[in-house]
Amino acid sequence: MRTPLENMKLFADRRQKLAGMMQGSALILSAPEETIRNGSVHNSFRQDSNLYYLTGYEESGTIFVFRPGMTPETVMFVRKKDTERETWDGFRFGPDEAQKQFRMDKTYPIEDFSKEICGLLKGVDKLYYRFYKNAEMDTKIRETLLDLKVSQGRSGFGLLPVFDSDEFLGELRVIKSEADILNHRRACELTCEAHIETMKYVKPGMSEREVHGYFIYQIMKRGAAREGYGGIFASGANACTLHYVFNDATLKNNELLLVDAAGEHNYFTSDITRSYPINGKFTDAQAQVYEGVLKVQKTVISMVKPGLPFQEMHDTASSMLTDLMLDLGLLSGRKDDIMKSGQHKKYYPHGIGHFLGMDVHDSGLYFNKKSGESRKIEAGMVFTVEPGLYIPANDHAASAEYRGIGIRIEDNILVTHNGHENMTQRCPKEIADLERTVGYKN
Ligand code: GLY
Ligand code: MN
Ligand code: MN
Repeated sequence: MRTPLENMKLFADRRQKLAGMMQGSALILSAPEETIRNGSVHNSFRQDSNLYYLTGYEESGTIFVFRPGMTPETVMFVRKKDTERETWDGFRFGPDEAQKQFRMDKTYPIEDFSKEICGLLKGVDKLYYRFYKNAEMDTKIRETLLDLKVSQGRSGFGLLPVFDSDEFLGELRVIKSEADILNHRRACELTCEAHIETMKYVKPGMSEREVHGYFIYQIMKRGAAREGYGGIFASGANACTLHYVFNDATLKNNELLLVDAAGEHNYFTSDITRSYPINGKFTDAQAQVYEGVLKVQKTVISMVKPGLPFQEMHDTASSMLTDLMLDLGLLSGRKDDIMKSGQHKKYYPHGIGHFLGMDVHDSGLYFNKKSGESRKIEAGMVFTVEPGLYIPANDHAASAEYRGIGIRIEDNILVTHNGHENMTQRCPKEIADLERTVGYKN
């Protein structure tokens, strides 16, 4: 979307909310110039989530400086108009149009950043910025901090203190507004539909890659600009690799397919995982493991309401999944000992979920920094609930029928004032529904 949204109010409202939290300080957000591969080919570009969240501006090579209570309050450095470059790379707003259409108080060409920034930070007592490793922008910020100090002469003042903008903005982004929730719901809805279409499509002999391509087609057909993250299409024992990326194996008749994939709508993403039989019928062993994981997932979702410590969801899942491991004979011994020593992590190595929003692993703190206590969940938060059980193909501790089974079931949960809403409810997960939906029948 290279044109400004009709309603710039959304971004102005977010800035206003933020302004109340940062009087006397400034925030700098940036996105580097679009990356160019092999000297001439462009990678696809997605705006930095924080920069988009506060401006709606989608071009690369942008820096936004926010100085609540000061004049100018909103300053954006953008790429200049350039007829020749626009022939190659497409439309640019340029400083004048960007100022008008994105309702900035002041805009400059990006080349003027080093010249203007010291003036914009004079009198500010705190800067919010996120340091990247080896980023060109980091060098500019370091130079700016030193130039500012020098410009104060022998005042005795030290460097302007810098706080992490990710952590700060994360606390704003972790509670979703009504507008955010509408975008989120749409991302969830189109992702559910794409999963259902994909279930109907798969059949033995296809490659994981073809299924991935079909899923991307389904989300884009519904208006998604892109995947919310690199989709995982893992058949058989590939599902036991948590971040499987190859997606190039052939789907086999009696195996399961784990699909962890989602589309993005207006920069909000969903994050759904479903695991189902490629030939439309669970084997007894697959069904046994699947039902166990599903029970855990439903139990954890049913607990969700404001005030619940995040950690309790993880503890419940770990405890129930350990029972399942014992039932399946994957582990033996006393449950307490197993959990204390962490043996259960062999089959359930990850957490129960994560905040979800403009980024798949969205910003927001899970623990109180000082006390280390788990954060209590609040209305307006969105997170995933995604228990899993992964039994490696070469695991001789497991009986043969369970080896190579990897299952994860993941939904997206909005916390409401009196409970929760499962925003991905429409995506089938009961065995009977999955068997009905998967198109291929043996
Ligand atoms: N799709 C990444 C995750 O589930 O965390
Ligand atoms: Mn997830
Ligand atoms: Mn996922």
